[in-house]
Amino acid sequence: MARRKLIAGNWKMNCLSADGQALAAGLAAKMKAAGAARFDMAICPPFPLLSTVLAAVAGSAIAVGGQDCHAKEKGAFTGDTSAWMLKDLGCAYVIVGHSERRTYHKESDADIKAKAQAALAAGLKPIVCIGETLEERDAGQTLEVNRRQLHGSLPDGTTADKVVIAYEPVWAIGTGRTATPAQAQEVHAMIRAELVGRLGDGEGNALRILYGGSMNPGNAAELLAQTDIDGGLIGGAALKVDDFWTLAEHSPR
Ligand code: 13P
Repeated sequence: MARRKLIAGNWKMNCLSADGQALAAGLAAKMKAAGAARFDMAICPPFPLLSTVLAAVAGSAIAVGGQDCHAKEKGAFTGDTSAWMLKDLGCAYVIVGHSERRTYHKESDADIKAKAQAALAAGLKPIVCIGETLEERDAGQTLEVNRRQLHGSLPDGTTADKVVIAYEPVWAIGTGRTATPAQAQEVHAMIRAELVGRLGDGEGNALRILYGGSMNPGNAAELLAQTDIDGGLIGGAALKVDDFWTLAEHSPR
């Protein structure tokens, strides 16, 4: 089954407005020059830059997403941002359950599922992140941990056009240590089988599973060539126009 690749940039807590504007505008110019790109592209800047970035990519095929959302629509939650606010601004995606949120904000699978559920209710596509730590991998628990996180975090009503999954091994994030294509494919194949079991053949085979963790222009081609790797969630290499664009261009024809 041919799934269109999704190349998503997670800017994390980087960029002031001038850098963010230039980065988004540079990518929008590349996208427009490319005409019909053979991949989808999304960028997820920090909240304060969303309006600037949305304006910079307006009229291009680049989608914009938030990096997190609250599970509730509104209320007394100082410092939080709702999925409805992101949708209202013009976002199409929101990342939920990134390992940095799981670690630094103690988010559980249930928290992440509630956030993903809110994203769906607001009309956003959640990019639901899962991934094992190095200790879990070394203990031989990789598949079990990812299976548990997958089923615990995936929202009810998941369909292929509404939800994206990102497998991000924690030990590969920001470390320069990428999963080998075979290591990544092994986990992606397990996720695919679980999705088919849960959603049926059609939806399970159509849902996109991204890889994230030290993906860069040098290793993207091999990763993106794997059967069940349907794109990337990119941190460091998403912060430079040429790196991110070159990486995306490694999407197979
Ligand atoms: P790096 O690409 O910097 O390793 O980050 C990956 C990531 O966490 C994307 O969400």
